[in-house]
Amino acid sequence: MFVVFKRLFRTRPKTPYKLGQPTYETRPHYLTKPGYLTPGISAIEYYDRRLQLIKQLPKKSLTILVGNSVQYSSGSVFYDFQQDNNLFYMSGWLEPGSIGVLEKVDDKGTDEDMVFHMLVPDNDPYTEIWEGEKSGLQGCYNNFNPDSVEDVKNYKKYLTSLIKHHDYIFIDKQSSNDFNSFFSLHKDQTREDIHQLLKTHASGKTVKPINSVIAKMREVKSPSEIKVMHKAGQISSRAINKAVAKVGSSNPYMSEKSLAAYLDYEFIRSGCDKQAYIPVVAGGENALVIHYTRNDDLLYKDELVFVDAGGKLGGYCADISRAWPISGTFTEPQKDIYDVVLSVNKACIDQCYADNQMSLNDLHDFSVRKLHSNLKNLPGFAHVSRSEVTKNLYPHYIGHHLGLDLHDVPGVSKFTKLLPGNVVTIEPGLYIPKDDKWPKHYQGIGVRVEDDVAVGQTFKDSINLTSGCVKEVKDIEALISSGRCSTPGIYDELTDLHID
Ligand code: GLY
Ligand code: MN
Ligand code: MN
Repeated sequence: MFVVFKRLFRTRPKTPYKLGQPTYETRPHYLTKPGYLTPGISAIEYYDRRLQLIKQLPKKSLTILVGNSVQYSSGSVFYDFQQDNNLFYMSGWLEPGSIGVLEKVDDKGTDEDMVFHMLVPDNDPYTEIWEGEKSGLQGCYNNFNPDSVEDVKNYKKYLTSLIKHHDYIFIDKQSSNDFNSFFSLHKDQTREDIHQLLKTHASGKTVKPINSVIAKMREVKSPSEIKVMHKAGQISSRAINKAVAKVGSSNPYMSEKSLAAYLDYEFIRSGCDKQAYIPVVAGGENALVIHYTRNDDLLYKDELVFVDAGGKLGGYCADISRAWPISGTFTEPQKDIYDVVLSVNKACIDQCYADNQMSLNDLHDFSVRKLHSNLKNLPGFAHVSRSEVTKNLYPHYIGHHLGLDLHDVPGVSKFTKLLPGNVVTIEPGLYIPKDDKWPKHYQGIGVRVEDDVAVGQTFKDSINLTSGCVKEVKDIEALISSGRCSTPGIYDELTDLHID
């Protein structure tokens, strides 16, 4: 037998400089084109987003986007850093403890109306011994295209002087709750300090939240965003297919925990940055808990395993749910429930196009009607009422917008008709409680089938970003029976991050 060495990275190439996040120059396997600031998204696109934002604001307005800081679980033990998604969306900047500021200085309708400032941590040799290279002011200026950069240490003085020149101050908020208490205290010290600073220095000016304006922009994805999300969907789909096939391999997983770890490994190995969220890996009746994340049980042969998992690439999430039998073959009751959910999933996906004039809420109502009528055909469910369906059997919503946030974007209305460029999940489910009201052989079966759909104008223009993830009963059984999942000619690792 031959062992093929797919790659030999003998010598580290010399890079002109180092920065606090990947760039084309320092990580060309990840950022595959010179213009990209983050995977698939160019510096020009980030610039256009800023321009689009300020076009919607009055002259003499200042927008302050406060980045997140590192959070600690105890002492100096930190959590995985998550950048504030509004700052990231406007800049591509990934370092903690930073602030982005946009001035609208004029109303000519040209790019001269806009001045973009970044306040970032300066290079500090001591910090960098512990945390590695940072971009610093110069790296930020050279790569992220602000008109001016400043050491974030000086943010109070810097912002105070900018505020003076403006009539309107727009600031991001953490949650819709903040809308009722604009000057309420924030957990994060910098945010809190900036809100205090506004109290002192912005009196007499109009201070408003910016979240809903940015949310409207983020709700409609650009063609490049959809490409990145498609890649995240394809990688995640394939990882789940591999997990399905592994049940029938000579080395199957035995527990929820090892399946969760296997999915994590496959998402990342195939190009995603990390998992998009804590996955649900639920054997048998554990799937009745909608957000089951203990993932600490064993997997039993006479049960289904249910998975809700996805990878994240360049900040964008995939979100997939599937279920498959640990024995390799669905039992009749498992198949009955699964087929009801699958047919609703497919019927709803078929409704996802802008010309159809449906909102997420319309889709939800459609899914309830469809699920109810399909379920009534199953023995023992003939008399199930619609309210029993929504209260006990399908107690969640059909889906949500998807993007940088898993539920993207907080504050977006579910009553707005779907628009081209929206990306939504379609995730009907059925969870049959351990209650003798329902036929015994169906009790304890829980299934959700979830795909991610990029909405187009017409039916033909819509794309199911996760269509590669196996979901027909016969395909799932065939995949398990083959015990392997392969895509000829494509290696899994480091091979296919070209997003175009
Ligand atoms: N994975 C969480 C959700 O589907 O909304
Ligand atoms: Mn999900
Ligand atoms: Mn979802």
